[in-house]
Amino acid sequence: MTVTIVGSQLGDEGKGGVVDIYGDAVDVVARYQGGDNAGHTVVHDGTKYKLSLVPSGAVRGKIGVLGNGCVVNPETLFDEIDTLRERGLDPDVRVAERAHVILPYHRALDGIEEDEKDDLAAGTTKRGIGPTYEDKAGRRGVRIGDLLEPDVLRERLEYVVPQKKALAEEVFGKETGKAFDIDQLFETYREYGERLANEGMTVDCGTYLQSRIDGGDNVMLEGAQGTSIDIDHGIYPYVTSSNPTAGGATVGSGLGPTVVGQGEVIGIVKAYLSRVGTGPLPTELGGVEGQTPNYDGAAGADGDAEELATYIRDEGGEYGTVTGRPRRVGWLDMPMLRHAARANGFTGLAINHIDVLAGLEEVKVGHSYVLDGEETLTMPPTTEAWGRCEATLETFDGWSNVDWEAVAAEGYDAIPENARAYLEYIADELETPIYAVGVGPGREETVIVEDPYE
Ligand code: IMP
Repeated sequence: MTVTIVGSQLGDEGKGGVVDIYGDAVDVVARYQGGDNAGHTVVHDGTKYKLSLVPSGAVRGKIGVLGNGCVVNPETLFDEIDTLRERGLDPDVRVAERAHVILPYHRALDGIEEDEKDDLAAGTTKRGIGPTYEDKAGRRGVRIGDLLEPDVLRERLEYVVPQKKALAEEVFGKETGKAFDIDQLFETYREYGERLANEGMTVDCGTYLQSRIDGGDNVMLEGAQGTSIDIDHGIYPYVTSSNPTAGGATVGSGLGPTVVGQGEVIGIVKAYLSRVGTGPLPTELGGVEGQTPNYDGAAGADGDAEELATYIRDEGGEYGTVTGRPRRVGWLDMPMLRHAARANGFTGLAINHIDVLAGLEEVKVGHSYVLDGEETLTMPPTTEAWGRCEATLETFDGWSNVDWEAVAAEGYDAIPENARAYLEYIADELETPIYAVGVGPGREETVIVEDPYE
């Protein structure tokens, strides 16, 4: 069977931890979208591993697959694999032949276009994600399978590179270097292809995963980023260029929707909101320069909100894994979660980071929005309308800090009563049961209510 893990907010909900706690029963972990814009930290046998492409399960001896919906930077892939090997691990990573390749010119163009876009910039990770998906949709991309066939690779590069060079030089007025040099690109990427072939890493993803399922294996489909930065269902244009939502799990893995639908879809919820990037955020506390629209700094910001934001940011370690940028923080946004629960069809919830809010006298939640004078319970379809939404806050009594590891060992009823009231409000509003509650960053600090593989 499959279990699909989906971020229900803006990314960074703690998906890696959930993949981890349910991981023991899993044989194969497959990512279905995104690339090295996703950052996750895995702690294994006391050692910390920072990964952005290799699925975290690969550190724990599971087979990790990068599905056809992913965009793969081979340089990052092999760097991560080599680092894991140097540390004595032997990760088994497979890559879909249909996945698209991030080339150096994609990264260069990501940076150039972000600078040019000004107010419309999404605050991307500059990993070349958007430009690679653009080429995929424009039918001028290079796929992993092409790296294994030098003639095809050469033909693709000869067609596309002059266009990219002209775009950078003539439209954006930038100088270009070796990132746009056909011969150099051909040599480097042909070698990556050889390595992929020599190490037997490429697969026909859907066929491979289906055969594992038919053989009785448990497969986990691991989404990166989150629903509100999904290119279709998110806050366009401040989004990533793929589909982190559950529909992406079928398209991006090659498994049929009925296969994915017969399994479980677990929505990962952070108990408050965090955001790396630009665009509106109705429940935002304080703000972050360069990301919050019209941020006017300490002079204009509400001092209490700013202080609270700094507290939550520091307690929750809300700094980007990939970029180190401070994340914007806000109260939980229920209209965002109702939208996510519907778009993904969640069968269960994992709610993380309730320990981060411990110690606050009261905890607030954006229960609904007022949009142009009307109350609304879900997100409007345009980001401009979302920017006009004012959150109507509900207040919950806070809970104190306790020995969270002991709570995790004892189970759900050991969670402080006020925190349980908060959790049950979320579950009731989303009409979805709680499967797990994250009470700390460690592997042992999770209350497991339901194991989807049992
Ligand atoms: P891109 O995916 O690098 O193109 O960035 C597009 C938007 O998605 C930006 O606002 C990024 O900050 C955001 N984003 C991309 N990956 C992640 C992630 O893993 N966590 C949170 N935000 C992300």
